[in-house]
Amino acid sequence: MASNRTFTMVKPDAFGEGNCGAITKMIEEAGFRIVAAKVTKLSAERAGQFYEVHKERPFYNDLCNYMSSGAIMAMILEKDNAVADFRKLIGATNPADAEEGTIRKLYAKSIEANAIHGSDSDENAAIEGSFFFSKTEEF
Ligand code: CMP
Repeated sequence: MASNRTFTMVKPDAFGEGNCGAITKMIEEAGFRIVAAKVTKLSAERAGQFYEVHKERPFYNDLCNYMSSGAIMAMILEKDNAVADFRKLIGATNPADAEEGTIRKLYAKSIEANAIHGSDSDENAAIEGSFFFSKTEEF
């Protein structure tokens, strides 16, 4: 059964340009409930830990530098079928390929500075959520 939680980060490009509120509004209007939220700044080392799965990729160092270049907002979100529905809402990794109306189509700058992250599986949603939040309170 699909998990009802996913993890997201509004990335430094979108956060720095003041698009965090508009993006969060789209997320809530799409039916996601915010379970946890935190504004923070990653060091390059910590960004590297988060994206360790990509460490052999040619873009890894640039990605770590970019992800530590400014504040981000991390969130855990809840909705039925959260992981798949959220990836649909944010659109393709490369904004050039993202569908009209998706968050990346509207706000991403490039394949690297692509506005927002969304977990790609239930397992990674749990791992990534616990990277930022030690415990989520129930409301
Ligand atoms: P994200 O969905 O957070 O997962 C990995 C990130 O690496 C991705 O978004 C982009 O920010 C970045 N990324 C993925 N592919 C590339 C690429 N080909 N060139 C540069 N950055 C990339």
